[in-house]
Amino acid sequence: MLGRLNHVAIAVKDAEKAAKIYGAGFGAEISPAVPLPEHGVITVFVTLPNTKIEFIQPLGEESPIAKFLERNADGGIHHICYEVSDIIASRDTLVREGARVLGDGTPRIGAHGKPVLFLHPKDFSGALVEIEQA
Ligand code: CO
Repeated sequence: MLGRLNHVAIAVKDAEKAAKIYGAGFGAEISPAVPLPEHGVITVFVTLPNTKIEFIQPLGEESPIAKFLERNADGGIHHICYEVSDIIASRDTLVREGARVLGDGTPRIGAHGKPVLFLHPKDFSGALVEIEQA
């Protein structure tokens, strides 16, 4: 079942720098920068009352967001993340309905220590979608 909007991710060249204005300008809570080598990104989270903003910065040569930043040099919205109550059941239903799962379809551990999967933007109106086990 589709749950809460967990976060909106914005790809940038410098995640800490990008998050700064949310702290200084809005008084928002900013997380420390956390490297996620398995995902090829460094993340900084801004906490809002109802969701989060995830700034992602490339980590390593093979970063999956490197190409995105070549096309969007100033950064840009990269994906949205929805919570689901059962990620395996959601995956199987989505695939049955014709949605494509990126990678080999096996959930990986995401930024919050929970299993995540990414879904093809062509099947979601041009938006890259991440689903996270609630
Ligand atoms: Co994300």
